[in-house]
Amino acid sequence: MYEGLLKTFKEYLPITEKTPMISLAEGNTPLIPLHNLSKELGINLYGKYEGLNPTGSFKDRGMVMAVAKAVEDGAKAIICASTGNTSAAAAAYATRAGIKAYVVIPDGKIAMGKLAQAIIYGADIISIPGNFDEALKAVREIAETEAVALVNSVNPYRLEGQKTAAFEICQQLEKAPDVLAIPVGNAGNISAYWKGFKEWHEAKGTTLPRMHGFEAEGAAAIVKGAVIEQPETIATAIRIGNPASWRLAENARDESKGYIDSVTDTEILNAYKKVAAQDGVFVEPGSAASLAGVIQHVKAGKIKSGETVVCVFTGNGLKDPDTAINETTVDIHKMSDLEAMRSHLRQGVAKL
Ligand code: F0G
Repeated sequence: MYEGLLKTFKEYLPITEKTPMISLAEGNTPLIPLHNLSKELGINLYGKYEGLNPTGSFKDRGMVMAVAKAVEDGAKAIICASTGNTSAAAAAYATRAGIKAYVVIPDGKIAMGKLAQAIIYGADIISIPGNFDEALKAVREIAETEAVALVNSVNPYRLEGQKTAAFEICQQLEKAPDVLAIPVGNAGNISAYWKGFKEWHEAKGTTLPRMHGFEAEGAAAIVKGAVIEQPETIATAIRIGNPASWRLAENARDESKGYIDSVTDTEILNAYKKVAAQDGVFVEPGSAASLAGVIQHVKAGKIKSGETVVCVFTGNGLKDPDTAINETTVDIHKMSDLEAMRSHLRQGVAKL
């Protein structure tokens, strides 16, 4: 039976005899070949579908490790700032470990599914009028004076857990990809993957990929080289103007000879719809930044034809049903009898 990341990758993680081996069977997510997009782009494209983690995002990988260490150190409560996914994972793993989660979110700027998760897992939810960056500043200060463990990705245990996705990709492909394409928000995940690829390279002799990170244009602090006070993007998950792991991300880019570039909301929405409609994978808008970036980089020649590319799909599309409904033209055919349905079907099927 698969028993989650702490057991599976024990020797690569900071685990002691005292670490509680909590698990929701996180990790072990599929690497899905994207046949139609591969053909269109002339590359071998795969999606690492992190939306199939227990709370629907990659955050479970880091949270299982951070919560286990918090409990090991005697914490009775954890706290995090979040654009939604971190708070869902924190809430679930705190419940699992029998401790309390306090989650601080930007008012009105988190996707509905994520808020629903924090509620149902039983977190204490604090909503502030500011954005994610302000929420993160607040929880960092609070964690210094109060009896709560901070579980944002400034907590190094988060990156330790998250690096396991790079291990899985190397196992699934039986090699490292040429390019790893990944959305960048607070910049923890790109840093964690790079650490993971380097460790697997050391242990197993795999090659190292180029890291291609993508910020949303309205929140592209690293690309622009300046903090963005009022970040804006449809991809609320990565609506972050002052990434905490800024330097680590630049280091991953430079060491791997990769890029951190930006993608517009239009490019994000195009990729978001494309991967669902052409290859049957529903990801959240923030996750589609990775595919939007791949499309941009293939055109720009930064990704060469025939290369093996893995897109990290960080979160499940079901997290944010409002965007799916509001950003598409939906054709819902209202019909009240079987005859109308038959004739509708016949017309449709005749065109196939
Ligand atoms: N994709 C999704 C779906 C996310 O939720 C996040 C970050 C990222 C990408 C970016 O990852 O921050 O490590 O660069 N979400 C955080 C949260 C900020 O609070 O859930 P990153």
